[in-house]
Amino acid sequence: LNNGLGMTPPMGWNSWNHFGCNIDEKMIRETADALVSTGLSKLGYEYVNIDDCWAEISRDDKGNLVPKNSTFPSGIKALADYVHGKGLKLGIYSDAGYFTCSKKMPGSLGHEEQDAKTFASWGIDYLKYDNCNNDGSKPVVRYPIMTRALMKAGRPIFFSLCEWGDMHPAEWGAPVGNSWRTTNDISDNWESMISRADQNEVYAEYARPGGWNDPDMLEVGNGGMTKDEYIVHFSLWAISKAPLLLGCDIRNMTKETLDIITNKEVIAVNQDPYGFQAKKVRMEGDQEIWAATLSGYRIAVVLLNRGPVRYSATARWDDIGLDPKTVVEARDLWEHNTLRTQFVGNLTVTLGPHSCKLYVLKPVA
Ligand code: DGJ
Repeated sequence: LNNGLGMTPPMGWNSWNHFGCNIDEKMIRETADALVSTGLSKLGYEYVNIDDCWAEISRDDKGNLVPKNSTFPSGIKALADYVHGKGLKLGIYSDAGYFTCSKKMPGSLGHEEQDAKTFASWGIDYLKYDNCNNDGSKPVVRYPIMTRALMKAGRPIFFSLCEWGDMHPAEWGAPVGNSWRTTNDISDNWESMISRADQNEVYAEYARPGGWNDPDMLEVGNGGMTKDEYIVHFSLWAISKAPLLLGCDIRNMTKETLDIITNKEVIAVNQDPYGFQAKKVRMEGDQEIWAATLSGYRIAVVLLNRGPVRYSATARWDDIGLDPKTVVEARDLWEHNTLRTQFVGNLTVTLGPHSCKLYVLKPVA
């Protein structure tokens, strides 16, 4: 969407994966505090996104959405001011239907202009727009109504389409939103995570600055996967130019979680100005090679072992778009180490179960 936002994939946090409907203003404020105190905000994590369940079940007598008094007594404007005061941005959630998915609050269908104005007046910076309980009409018709309403409301608001991929939003999302979900909801386990990466990869050609494929939010730190699996999760999201929206309780993170999500070199792959989403360039047994061109004549490569036993994987220059005679320098982004040997034609590694390597390859002059 040509609103000047999302020139690189959005980064921040969202309440849903960890908290579901169990949210309140205190927790949101503490999360904003934690984004700053942990150093995450400095790395680019800027959006604090409230998901479903923030509003009263009924609109007020003028038809306006009302923040739930028991959990958001100070209102959303006050929360936006607080979050902005920390140098962060506030996101909110609504639905292109009559009720949100939790059915605990009204949706925006038929109230698009009014709600967009409300969000703008509160100082909202990001809108996630869900697809539950709609009237059965096509998303390609319903979603642009909110796009126009947001444009009219006169505040730049990142517009995240949460249509779950059924109607191939990658094919129509670019003029409508800044990102579009390509999958249904992720859960905190390997199968769920890896299958979302797969479904999202199909649409790689459609990603570009201002409009990103969204395989759903991160589960890193929620406890359901091993360290290696979370590293795969974060690596694939980064190289796929997916939104990096943290989904754990960032007020209580382990060092292991923090180490993964603060890896600057991996974040830099995600935030590369070219915005090319990685594609699978080889699938062979349990090995998979994902590659994406980066700025500066570099290529990011994930060598992935999807299987339960040790396996070796080879990135071939032919597959990743390099002349076979090119000599490259390889930077291991998880070891923070540039390999002493240089490589010609291919690079082979041995990988433990459900693990990966992420390299940036650079031709040497
Ligand atoms: C479905 C979405 O896909 C989720 O990310 C979350 O927003 C829930 N709805 C909230 O009800």
